[in-house]
Amino acid sequence: CGICGVVGLRHATPIVFEGLRRLEYRGYDSAGIATLVDGRVERRRAAGKLDNLGRLLEDNPLAGTTGIGHTRWATHGAPTACNAHPHGTERVAIVHNGIIENFETLRRELEAVGQVFQTETDSETIALMVDFYLTQGYAPREAALNTLKRLEGAYAVAMIFAGHEGLMIGACHSAPLAVGYGDGEMFLGSDSLALAPLTRRITYMEDGDCVVITPAGAEFITFDGTPVTRKEQTTALAAGSIGKDGYRHYMEKELHEHPLVIGQTLQRMVDPASRRVMLPEMPFDLASVPRAVITACGSAFYAGMIGRYWLEDIARLPVDIDVASEMRYRNPPLTAGSLGLLISQSGETADTLAALRSLREKAVHILSVLNVEHSTMARESDVVLGTVAGPEISVASTKAFTAQLTVLACLSIAAARARGTLDEAGEDALVSALLDLPSRAAEVFTQGPAIRRMAQIVVEARDVLYLGRGSMFPVAMEGALKLKEITYIHAEAYAAGEMKHGPISLIDRTVPIVASAPYTPLFDKTLSNLQEAKARGGRLLVFTDTKGADRVSAIAEEMVVLPHVHDFVAPILQTIPVQMLAYEVAVLKGTDVDQPRNLAKSVTVE
Ligand code: G6P
Repeated sequence: CGICGVVGLRHATPIVFEGLRRLEYRGYDSAGIATLVDGRVERRRAAGKLDNLGRLLEDNPLAGTTGIGHTRWATHGAPTACNAHPHGTERVAIVHNGIIENFETLRRELEAVGQVFQTETDSETIALMVDFYLTQGYAPREAALNTLKRLEGAYAVAMIFAGHEGLMIGACHSAPLAVGYGDGEMFLGSDSLALAPLTRRITYMEDGDCVVITPAGAEFITFDGTPVTRKEQTTALAAGSIGKDGYRHYMEKELHEHPLVIGQTLQRMVDPASRRVMLPEMPFDLASVPRAVITACGSAFYAGMIGRYWLEDIARLPVDIDVASEMRYRNPPLTAGSLGLLISQSGETADTLAALRSLREKAVHILSVLNVEHSTMARESDVVLGTVAGPEISVASTKAFTAQLTVLACLSIAAARARGTLDEAGEDALVSALLDLPSRAAEVFTQGPAIRRMAQIVVEARDVLYLGRGSMFPVAMEGALKLKEITYIHAEAYAAGEMKHGPISLIDRTVPIVASAPYTPLFDKTLSNLQEAKARGGRLLVFTDTKGADRVSAIAEEMVVLPHVHDFVAPILQTIPVQMLAYEVAVLKGTDVDQPRNLAKSVTVE
């Protein structure tokens, strides 16, 4: 979900509405705006897409120069207009991201003093508590601070107050919020993307910050009211960087950015003169780390699985890995000095953040691979390795994934060097393979016609089986996830060798088998598994490379042939066409590619 707000001179509604458009990518299922009209709080809210809110605003325009808006991804309460934000009373309107964990206690307290709730949401508690303090004679600022001090959980909020034109109060705790500076006007947004066309002058708020905003500027205070100084920064983000550039969808544009982001990420991590991987200064020594624990969610987790193969194989580093929502509760025994390796595009995913904090308690060093520089996880990590993927708008991750892999590959090389498990010649070979990748990745797009032929078969299926061995197994998992996410076709990924122990019973002509089988040392074994599937009537759609093409063509119904690359980097290259396949199937099915139903880009709830 996302927040956008403005105080100033111009009509607020169109500014806030466009801000919400730029936050759409985060995923949402209802939206709303509130402004002050002649000092009164007025709200418009609608279930579903922003267009529904747009139509409502056309019929019932909302005047005023002070406004806040919100896109909501339902947690407590269905995605109805009534549960949509802003919540409020005649005295106050608020928008909220995150979860108020103690809302039931607060709700009971408020009901006991006569406050009447209209919704099932946790967010309304904030509105009714601020409202309560206002009725007790507190000024907006005190009413807000009294409320903020009572809230538990992760949240970002923005509030406006009846009778107080030009006043907006924001606050955050474990959720992002940014203040934007204009000329005679000020903005508030969940991220710099929301604010990109409005201003490039931004302050990222810190945990426990409250901000009092007027058209003249912003005053940062703690929840106790103590003033704090926060730096203003100029974002590099240009308004243009968030266009579709003529592509049909953001996902298509972002798929085409794979070569670029792999190249940009390598530029940051490999010294061009020595061709050596360069890591930032670390407060620990990779040579003496006894174990790494990798954790992440969604696609980032599959990137981590590939990272595990690399760290174990070339750096001989023992690795444990689990999805963040499980890792957090697993309580794995860890010796102090172990490495917690977190991977996240947004740096805000609540499960990953919670896992980070639980690892921190075990005196583990925290190294995060993040795409969003000013994220909560960035602030809480000992070291951040940045992916240079730029803003990723499509809910389904594409380019951030290959950028994560590029960073993990570099980290594995650096760890191997530090641990003495890779000699200079070995490092040269791996770095050369990486540096060669952007050009090889650009060649993948010549395979568009073959990928579209595969898509014609997959779009007819109800179930699809994805297969891969070794580091191609997580690639298969990423392919299956992508297909599920954006086409709503059920897909399951299996380690190719494990297929015979179960899913082989599913195989018939109606269940296409998508396999990732480049010419690596596991090629023969994978091919045998594909033969087993074919012998049972399976239709094989195979991603391979120039060295594997002859043998694959003998059994596959359709195949996609990529350039042959070093085994080490093969999973990075092979990811691109499996993501493209999901995209082409979604286009054929006509689904909402960039904003698939029920999904959110950054899931800030556990
Ligand atoms: C959501 C998205 C996934 C993403 C996952 C992790 O579930 O729909 O595409 O992989 O979150 O996001 P993160 O920002 O932590 O990488």
